[in-house]
Amino acid sequence: MITGFFRNVSLKLSNERSDDVIKRENNTIKIEGMDVFELVDKYDTPLYCYSEKTLSKQIKAIHTIMNALGEFHLGFALKANNNIHLINYMVKNGTWIDIVNKNEYILAREGGTPPGKIVVNGNGKTKAFIKEMIEEGVFSINIDSKEEYDLTREIIREMDNTKELPLFMLRVNPDVDPHTHPYISTGLKENKFGVQMDSARAILLGDNGLITGLHTHIGSNIYDIGAFKEAFEALLTLKNDFPRLNTINIGGGWGIDYEKNGEHMDLDAYAQQVIPILKAFDCPIMMEIGRFIMGPSGVLLSTVLYKKVTEFKTFVVCDANMANMIRPALYNAYHHVQPLHINPSEEVITADIVGALCETGDRLAIDRDIEDVSAGDLIAIYDTGAYGYSMASNYNAESRPAEILISEDDCRLIRKREDVNDLLKKMKV
Ligand code: LLP
Repeated sequence: MITGFFRNVSLKLSNERSDDVIKRENNTIKIEGMDVFELVDKYDTPLYCYSEKTLSKQIKAIHTIMNALGEFHLGFALKANNNIHLINYMVKNGTWIDIVNKNEYILAREGGTPPGKIVVNGNGKTKAFIKEMIEEGVFSINIDSKEEYDLTREIIREMDNTKELPLFMLRVNPDVDPHTHPYISTGLKENKFGVQMDSARAILLGDNGLITGLHTHIGSNIYDIGAFKEAFEALLTLKNDFPRLNTINIGGGWGIDYEKNGEHMDLDAYAQQVIPILKAFDCPIMMEIGRFIMGPSGVLLSTVLYKKVTEFKTFVVCDANMANMIRPALYNAYHHVQPLHINPSEEVITADIVGALCETGDRLAIDRDIEDVSAGDLIAIYDTGAYGYSMASNYNAESRPAEILISEDDCRLIRKREDVNDLLKKMKV
Protein backbone atom coordinates (compact mmCIF):
# COMPACT_ATOMS: atom_id res chain seq x y z
CA MET A 1 0.00 0.00 0.00
CA ILE A 2 1.34 3.42 -0.91
CA THR A 3 0.89 5.84 1.92
CA GLY A 4 0.35 8.78 -0.37
CA PHE A 5 -1.38 12.13 -0.10
CA PHE A 6 -1.83 15.10 -2.36
CA ARG A 7 -0.29 18.47 -1.77
CA ASN A 8 0.24 21.75 -3.52
CA VAL A 9 2.90 21.53 -6.15
CA SER A 10 5.10 24.55 -6.62
CA LEU A 11 7.40 25.16 -9.52
CA LYS A 12 10.29 24.65 -7.18
CA LEU A 13 11.78 21.37 -6.06
CA SER A 14 10.54 20.55 -2.59
CA ASN A 15 12.45 22.41 0.13
CA GLU A 16 14.40 24.23 -2.60
CA ARG A 17 16.33 27.20 -1.29
CA SER A 18 17.49 30.04 -3.48
CA ASP A 19 21.10 28.95 -3.01
CA ASP A 20 20.64 25.24 -3.73
CA VAL A 21 22.93 23.50 -6.15
CA ILE A 22 20.01 22.03 -8.15
CA LYS A 23 17.25 24.22 -9.58
CA ARG A 24 14.27 23.88 -11.86
CA GLU A 25 14.92 26.20 -14.80
CA ASN A 26 13.25 26.63 -18.21
CA ASN A 27 11.38 23.34 -18.14
CA THR A 28 14.34 21.27 -17.09
CA ILE A 29 16.46 20.73 -13.98
CA LYS A 30 19.94 22.15 -13.77
CA ILE A 31 22.98 21.99 -11.59
CA GLU A 32 24.64 25.39 -11.90
CA GLY A 33 23.47 25.83 -15.47
CA MET A 34 24.07 22.24 -16.65
CA ASP A 35 21.10 20.06 -17.53
CA VAL A 36 21.10 17.10 -15.12
CA PHE A 37 19.59 14.73 -17.64
CA GLU A 38 22.35 15.49 -20.14
CA LEU A 39 24.96 15.01 -17.42
CA VAL A 40 23.54 11.62 -16.57
CA ASP A 41 23.38 10.60 -20.26
CA LYS A 42 27.04 11.43 -20.50
CA TYR A 43 28.42 10.19 -17.18
CA ASP A 44 25.84 7.66 -15.93
CA THR A 45 24.81 7.18 -12.28
CA PRO A 46 25.62 7.02 -9.43
CA LEU A 47 27.45 10.28 -10.02
CA TYR A 48 29.01 12.74 -7.61
CA CYS A 49 28.59 16.31 -8.91
CA TYR A 50 30.30 19.29 -7.32
CA SER A 51 29.44 22.96 -7.83
CA GLU A 52 32.39 25.30 -8.00
CA LYS A 53 30.10 28.26 -7.31
CA THR A 54 28.85 26.78 -4.03
CA LEU A 55 32.38 25.80 -3.03
CA SER A 56 33.53 29.35 -3.52
CA LYS A 57 30.48 30.72 -1.70
CA GLN A 58 31.18 28.53 1.35
CA ILE A 59 34.82 29.62 1.49
CA LYS A 60 33.75 33.27 1.26
CA ALA A 61 31.21 32.78 4.06
CA ILE A 62 33.98 31.60 6.39
CA HIS A 63 36.27 34.48 5.47
CA THR A 64 33.47 36.99 6.00
CA ILE A 65 33.32 35.96 9.64
CA MET A 66 36.98 35.27 10.27
CA ASN A 67 38.16 38.48 8.59
CA ALA A 68 37.42 40.20 11.90
CA LEU A 69 40.65 38.54 13.12
CA GLY A 70 44.15 39.75 12.35
CA GLU A 71 46.23 37.06 10.66
CA PHE A 72 43.97 34.15 9.71
CA HIS A 73 44.56 31.05 7.55
CA LEU A 74 41.73 28.86 6.36
CA GLY A 75 42.67 25.22 5.85
CA PHE A 76 40.63 22.47 4.21
CA ALA A 77 40.53 19.05 5.90
CA LEU A 78 41.43 16.83 2.94
CA LYS A 79 39.78 13.78 4.52
CA ALA A 80 36.40 15.36 3.69
CA ASN A 81 37.13 15.13 -0.03
CA ASN A 82 40.49 14.19 -1.47
CA ASN A 83 39.92 14.92 -5.15
CA ILE A 84 43.05 16.72 -6.36
CA HIS A 85 41.05 18.92 -8.76
CA LEU A 86 38.92 20.25 -5.92
CA ILE A 87 42.05 20.68 -3.79
CA ASN A 88 43.63 22.60 -6.64
CA TYR A 89 40.64 24.92 -6.90
CA MET A 90 40.75 25.62 -3.18
CA VAL A 91 44.52 26.11 -3.06
CA LYS A 92 44.33 28.58 -5.97
CA ASN A 93 41.79 30.43 -3.86
CA GLY A 94 44.20 30.73 -0.96
CA THR A 95 43.14 27.71 1.13
CA TRP A 96 45.67 25.69 3.11
CA ILE A 97 45.36 21.92 3.51
CA ASP A 98 45.17 19.66 6.58
CA ILE A 99 46.44 16.09 6.15
CA VAL A 100 46.92 13.07 8.43
CA ASN A 101 49.14 10.65 6.53
CA LYS A 102 51.58 10.28 3.66
CA ASN A 103 48.92 9.49 1.07
CA GLU A 104 46.95 12.60 2.01
CA TYR A 105 50.20 14.57 1.83
CA ILE A 106 50.85 13.31 -1.69
CA LEU A 107 47.30 14.18 -2.79
CA ALA A 108 47.64 17.66 -1.26
CA ARG A 109 50.91 18.16 -3.17
CA GLU A 110 49.39 16.81 -6.43
CA GLY A 111 46.58 19.30 -5.91
CA GLY A 112 49.19 22.07 -5.95
CA THR A 113 49.57 22.76 -2.22
CA PRO A 114 53.03 24.04 -1.29
CA PRO A 115 54.49 22.23 1.75
CA GLY A 116 54.49 25.54 3.66
CA LYS A 117 50.67 25.57 3.51
CA ILE A 118 50.23 22.05 4.84
CA VAL A 119 49.18 21.26 8.40
CA VAL A 120 49.83 17.74 9.71
CA ASN A 121 47.38 16.10 12.10
CA GLY A 122 46.74 12.54 13.28
CA ASN A 123 46.92 10.47 16.45
CA GLY A 124 49.12 7.71 15.02
CA LYS A 125 51.92 9.36 13.10
CA THR A 126 54.85 7.03 12.53
CA LYS A 127 58.42 8.07 13.20
CA ALA A 128 59.18 7.93 9.47
CA PHE A 129 56.17 10.12 8.66
CA ILE A 130 57.06 12.79 11.25
CA LYS A 131 60.64 12.85 10.01
CA GLU A 132 59.56 13.14 6.39
CA MET A 133 57.08 15.93 7.11
CA ILE A 134 59.83 17.87 8.90
CA GLU A 135 62.15 17.33 5.94
CA GLU A 136 59.46 18.36 3.45
CA GLY A 137 59.05 21.68 5.27
CA VAL A 138 55.36 21.57 6.20
CA PHE A 139 53.89 24.56 8.03
CA SER A 140 52.96 22.79 11.25
CA ILE A 141 52.76 19.44 12.97
CA ASN A 142 50.08 19.03 15.62
CA ILE A 143 51.42 16.76 18.36
CA ASP A 144 48.70 14.45 19.69
CA SER A 145 50.24 12.94 22.84
CA LYS A 146 53.11 12.99 25.34
CA GLU A 147 54.44 9.90 23.59
CA GLU A 148 54.44 11.67 20.23
CA TYR A 149 56.07 14.71 21.83
CA ASP A 150 58.93 12.51 23.13
CA LEU A 151 59.28 10.80 19.76
CA THR A 152 59.39 14.17 17.99
CA ARG A 153 62.19 15.35 20.29
CA GLU A 154 64.10 12.16 19.55
CA ILE A 155 63.66 12.67 15.78
CA ILE A 156 64.90 16.24 16.01
CA ARG A 157 67.94 15.17 18.07
CA GLU A 158 68.82 12.66 15.38
CA MET A 159 68.36 15.10 12.52
CA ASP A 160 70.69 17.56 10.88
CA ASN A 161 70.22 20.60 13.12
CA THR A 162 70.56 23.12 10.31
CA LYS A 163 67.11 22.15 9.07
CA GLU A 164 64.42 24.78 9.61
CA LEU A 165 61.70 23.17 11.71
CA PRO A 166 57.95 23.41 11.19
CA LEU A 167 55.77 24.89 13.88
CA PHE A 168 54.97 22.28 16.54
CA MET A 169 51.57 22.70 18.11
CA LEU A 170 50.06 20.69 20.92
CA ARG A 171 46.60 19.20 20.33
CA VAL A 172 44.56 19.91 23.44
CA ASN A 173 41.53 17.85 24.40
CA PRO A 174 39.48 20.34 26.45
CA ASP A 175 36.81 17.79 27.51
CA VAL A 176 33.91 19.63 25.90
CA ASP A 177 30.72 18.00 24.64
CA PRO A 178 29.96 19.31 21.13
CA HIS A 179 26.49 17.68 21.15
CA THR A 180 27.01 15.96 17.84
CA HIS A 181 26.97 12.25 16.92
CA PRO A 182 29.22 10.37 19.40
CA TYR A 183 31.29 8.89 16.57
CA ILE A 184 32.36 12.37 15.49
CA SER A 185 32.91 13.94 18.92
CA THR A 186 36.65 14.30 19.41
CA GLY A 187 37.18 16.67 22.33
CA LEU A 188 35.78 14.64 25.24
CA LYS A 189 38.18 13.09 27.74
CA GLU A 190 37.12 9.59 26.70
CA ASN A 191 38.04 10.33 23.06
CA LYS A 192 41.39 9.21 21.72
CA PHE A 193 42.52 12.64 20.50
CA GLY A 194 44.85 15.18 22.06
CA VAL A 195 46.07 15.73 25.61
CA GLN A 196 43.98 16.79 28.59
CA MET A 197 44.45 20.29 29.99
CA ASP A 198 46.59 19.11 32.94
CA SER A 199 48.86 17.04 30.74
CA ALA A 200 49.12 19.95 28.29
CA ARG A 201 50.33 22.17 31.13
CA ALA A 202 52.83 19.52 32.25
CA ILE A 203 54.21 19.13 28.71
CA LEU A 204 54.45 22.90 28.22
CA LEU A 205 56.18 23.38 31.59
CA GLY A 206 58.82 20.80 30.75
CA ASP A 207 59.24 21.98 27.16
CA ASN A 208 62.19 24.15 26.21
CA GLY A 209 60.61 25.98 23.31
CA LEU A 210 59.73 23.26 20.81
CA ILE A 211 56.00 23.83 21.13
CA THR A 212 54.94 27.27 20.03
CA GLY A 213 51.25 26.78 19.30
CA LEU A 214 48.05 25.08 20.39
CA HIS A 215 45.55 23.05 18.39
CA THR A 216 42.12 21.70 19.17
CA HIS A 217 39.33 20.04 17.18
CA ILE A 218 36.33 19.11 19.29
CA GLY A 219 34.26 17.29 16.67
CA SER A 220 32.33 17.55 13.48
CA ASN A 221 28.91 18.83 12.31
CA ILE A 222 28.57 21.03 15.39
CA TYR A 223 25.67 23.47 15.82
CA ASP A 224 26.37 24.32 19.44
CA ILE A 225 28.24 27.64 19.55
CA GLY A 226 28.63 27.24 23.34
CA ALA A 227 30.85 24.19 22.78
CA PHE A 228 33.27 26.18 20.61
CA LYS A 229 33.28 28.96 23.21
CA GLU A 230 34.07 26.58 26.03
CA ALA A 231 36.88 24.88 24.12
CA PHE A 232 38.52 28.11 22.97
CA GLU A 233 38.22 29.67 26.42
CA ALA A 234 40.10 26.67 27.81
CA LEU A 235 42.83 27.15 25.20
CA LEU A 236 42.99 30.84 26.04
CA THR A 237 43.87 30.07 29.68
CA LEU A 238 46.80 27.99 28.45
CA LYS A 239 47.89 30.68 26.02
CA ASN A 240 47.81 33.27 28.83
CA ASP A 241 49.88 31.03 31.10
CA PHE A 242 52.44 30.31 28.38
CA PRO A 243 52.92 33.58 26.47
CA ARG A 244 55.44 32.01 24.07
CA LEU A 245 52.55 30.20 22.39
CA ASN A 246 52.03 32.31 19.30
CA THR A 247 49.76 30.42 16.90
CA ILE A 248 46.39 28.78 17.50
CA ASN A 249 44.70 26.19 15.27
CA ILE A 250 41.01 25.92 16.16
CA GLY A 251 40.23 22.84 14.03
CA GLY A 252 37.02 22.52 12.04
CA GLY A 253 33.57 21.24 12.90
CA TRP A 254 31.08 23.76 11.50
CA GLY A 255 27.70 22.08 11.00
CA ILE A 256 25.57 22.40 7.86
CA ASP A 257 21.83 22.38 7.18
CA TYR A 258 21.42 18.75 6.10
CA GLU A 259 17.71 18.75 6.90
CA LYS A 260 17.11 21.97 4.99
CA ASN A 261 15.00 23.34 7.80
CA GLY A 262 17.22 26.27 8.64
CA GLU A 263 18.95 24.42 11.48
CA HIS A 264 22.64 24.87 11.04
CA MET A 265 25.45 26.53 12.84
CA ASP A 266 24.39 30.10 13.54
CA LEU A 267 27.08 32.14 11.83
CA ASP A 268 25.93 35.44 13.37
CA ALA A 269 26.08 33.94 16.85
CA TYR A 270 29.57 32.60 16.06
CA ALA A 271 30.64 36.09 14.98
CA GLN A 272 29.24 37.64 18.15
CA GLN A 273 30.19 35.04 20.72
CA VAL A 274 33.26 33.21 19.44
CA ILE A 275 35.19 35.83 17.50
CA PRO A 276 35.83 37.99 20.64
CA ILE A 277 37.48 34.97 22.31
CA LEU A 278 39.61 34.36 19.22
CA LYS A 279 40.60 38.03 19.15
CA ALA A 280 41.75 37.74 22.76
CA PHE A 281 44.42 35.26 21.66
CA ASP A 282 46.08 38.16 19.90
CA CYS A 283 48.05 35.91 17.54
CA PRO A 284 47.60 34.21 14.13
CA ILE A 285 44.60 31.86 14.02
CA MET A 286 44.20 28.88 11.72
CA MET A 287 41.28 26.66 10.92
CA GLU A 288 40.83 23.32 9.15
CA ILE A 289 37.26 23.00 7.93
CA GLY A 290 36.00 20.07 5.86
CA ARG A 291 32.22 19.71 5.85
CA PHE A 292 31.19 23.38 5.75
CA ILE A 293 33.41 24.00 2.73
CA MET A 294 32.65 20.90 0.67
CA GLY A 295 29.38 19.39 1.97
CA PRO A 296 26.82 21.71 0.35
CA SER A 297 28.68 21.80 -2.99
CA GLY A 298 28.15 18.09 -3.68
CA VAL A 299 25.10 16.11 -4.81
CA LEU A 300 24.98 12.43 -5.56
CA LEU A 301 22.75 11.60 -8.53
CA SER A 302 21.21 8.16 -8.62
CA THR A 303 18.71 6.24 -10.78
CA VAL A 304 15.67 4.51 -9.32
CA LEU A 305 15.76 0.81 -10.19
CA TYR A 306 12.48 -0.29 -8.58
CA LYS A 307 9.71 1.03 -6.45
CA LYS A 308 9.00 -2.03 -4.35
CA VAL A 309 5.73 -1.92 -2.47
CA THR A 310 5.13 -4.41 0.34
CA GLU A 311 2.33 -4.68 2.86
CA PHE A 312 4.53 -2.92 5.39
CA LYS A 313 6.67 -0.45 3.55
CA THR A 314 7.55 1.12 0.25
CA PHE A 315 11.17 0.80 -0.81
CA VAL A 316 12.74 2.98 -3.45
CA VAL A 317 15.64 0.83 -4.65
CA CYS A 318 18.26 2.94 -6.37
CA ASP A 319 21.73 2.49 -7.84
CA ALA A 320 23.44 4.50 -5.09
CA ASN A 321 24.11 2.66 -1.85
CA MET A 322 26.06 2.54 1.39
CA ALA A 323 29.24 1.68 -0.49
CA ASN A 324 28.99 4.98 -2.39
CA MET A 325 27.72 7.01 0.56
CA ILE A 326 27.98 5.49 4.01
CA ARG A 327 26.91 8.43 6.21
CA PRO A 328 23.25 7.37 6.71
CA ALA A 329 24.27 3.77 7.53
CA LEU A 330 27.14 4.74 9.80
CA TYR A 331 25.79 7.76 11.67
CA ASN A 332 22.08 7.54 10.92
CA ALA A 333 22.79 10.79 9.10
CA TYR A 334 20.04 12.69 7.32
CA HIS A 335 20.55 13.73 3.68
CA HIS A 336 17.78 15.46 1.79
CA VAL A 337 16.62 13.25 -1.12
CA GLN A 338 14.85 14.85 -4.07
CA PRO A 339 13.33 13.11 -7.10
CA LEU A 340 14.23 15.09 -10.22
CA HIS A 341 11.03 15.23 -12.28
CA ILE A 342 10.59 17.67 -15.12
CA ASN A 343 6.89 17.59 -14.33
CA PRO A 344 6.62 17.32 -10.56
CA SER A 345 4.49 14.45 -9.36
CA GLU A 346 1.60 15.49 -7.14
CA GLU A 347 1.67 12.37 -5.07
CA VAL A 348 3.96 11.96 -2.10
CA ILE A 349 5.00 8.56 -0.81
CA THR A 350 6.65 7.54 2.43
CA ALA A 351 9.52 5.23 1.61
CA ASP A 352 12.88 3.85 2.61
CA ILE A 353 15.40 4.82 -0.04
CA VAL A 354 17.75 1.87 -0.27
CA GLY A 355 20.64 0.54 -2.30
CA ALA A 356 21.11 -2.92 -3.78
CA LEU A 357 23.72 -4.21 -1.32
CA CYS A 358 23.26 -7.22 0.94
CA GLU A 359 22.77 -5.30 4.18
CA THR A 360 19.60 -4.11 5.83
CA GLY A 361 21.53 -1.01 6.84
CA ASP A 362 22.02 -0.15 3.16
CA ARG A 363 19.59 2.76 3.43
CA LEU A 364 20.07 6.33 2.28
CA ALA A 365 16.85 7.52 3.97
CA ILE A 366 14.28 5.94 6.26
CA ASP A 367 10.51 6.55 6.20
CA ARG A 368 11.04 9.61 4.04
CA ASP A 369 8.21 11.57 2.44
CA ILE A 370 9.20 12.16 -1.17
CA GLU A 371 7.50 12.87 -4.48
CA ASP A 372 6.31 9.61 -5.93
CA VAL A 373 8.85 7.93 -8.21
CA SER A 374 9.01 5.14 -10.78
CA ALA A 375 11.82 2.99 -12.12
CA GLY A 376 14.13 5.06 -14.30
CA ASP A 377 13.59 8.33 -12.41
CA LEU A 378 16.57 10.30 -11.19
CA ILE A 379 16.99 11.27 -7.56
CA ALA A 380 19.46 13.68 -5.99
CA ILE A 381 21.01 13.10 -2.58
CA TYR A 382 22.06 16.48 -1.27
CA ASP A 383 25.02 17.75 0.75
CA THR A 384 27.25 14.84 -0.18
CA GLY A 385 30.37 16.82 -1.06
CA ALA A 386 32.05 16.06 2.28
CA TYR A 387 32.65 12.52 3.61
CA GLY A 388 30.76 11.12 0.60
CA TYR A 389 33.22 9.86 -2.00
CA SER A 390 36.09 9.97 0.49
CA MET A 391 34.38 7.30 2.63
CA ALA A 392 33.18 5.18 -0.32
CA SER A 393 34.19 1.52 -0.44
CA ASN A 394 34.16 -1.50 -2.72
CA TYR A 395 31.77 -3.53 -0.56
CA ASN A 396 29.88 -6.14 -2.62
CA ALA A 397 32.60 -5.49 -5.24
CA GLU A 398 30.91 -2.16 -6.01
CA SER A 399 32.78 0.23 -8.26
CA ARG A 400 33.19 3.70 -6.84
CA PRO A 401 31.23 6.36 -8.80
CA ALA A 402 32.61 9.04 -11.13
CA GLU A 403 33.02 12.63 -9.95
CA ILE A 404 32.39 15.75 -12.03
CA LEU A 405 33.07 19.41 -11.32
CA ILE A 406 30.61 21.96 -12.62
CA SER A 407 31.66 25.53 -13.03
CA GLU A 408 29.84 28.38 -14.83
CA ASP A 409 28.20 26.50 -17.74
CA ASP A 410 31.05 24.05 -17.97
CA CYS A 411 31.60 20.62 -16.60
CA ARG A 412 34.50 18.22 -16.43
CA LEU A 413 35.18 14.71 -15.27
CA ILE A 414 37.49 14.88 -12.25
CA ARG A 415 37.55 11.18 -11.34
CA LYS A 416 36.72 8.23 -13.58
CA ARG A 417 34.16 5.68 -12.56
CA GLU A 418 35.91 2.54 -11.33
CA ASP A 419 35.29 -0.79 -13.02
CA VAL A 420 35.89 -4.37 -11.99
CA ASN A 421 39.36 -4.34 -13.51
CA ASP A 422 40.41 -1.84 -10.86
CA LEU A 423 39.60 -4.52 -8.31
CA LEU A 424 41.02 -7.39 -10.28
CA LYS A 425 44.36 -5.80 -11.01
CA LYS A 426 45.20 -5.63 -7.30
CA MET A 427 44.47 -9.34 -6.91
CA LYS A 428 46.43 -10.53 -9.93
CA VAL A 429 49.59 -10.93 -7.90
N1 LLP B 1 40.54 18.75 11.86
C1 LLP B 1 40.67 17.51 12.34
C2 LLP B 1 41.81 17.18 13.18
C3 LLP B 1 39.71 16.54 12.02
O1 LLP B 1 39.83 15.30 12.49
C4 LLP B 1 38.60 16.88 11.21
C5 LLP B 1 37.58 15.91 10.88
C6 LLP B 1 38.52 18.20 10.71
C7 LLP B 1 39.51 19.11 11.08
C8 LLP B 1 37.39 18.66 9.82
O2 LLP B 1 36.18 18.61 10.45
P1 LLP B 1 34.87 19.20 9.73
O3 LLP B 1 35.07 20.66 9.50
O4 LLP B 1 34.72 18.49 8.44
O5 LLP B 1 33.78 18.92 10.66
N2 LLP B 1 33.06 11.09 8.60
C9 LLP B 1 32.32 11.98 9.48
C10 LLP B 1 33.14 13.19 9.85
C11 LLP B 1 34.46 12.86 10.47
C12 LLP B 1 35.31 14.06 10.77
C13 LLP B 1 36.72 13.65 11.00
N3 LLP B 1 37.59 14.72 11.34
C14 LLP B 1 31.01 12.36 8.84
O6 LLP B 1 30.73 11.94 7.72
O7 LLP B 1 30.21 13.04 9.47
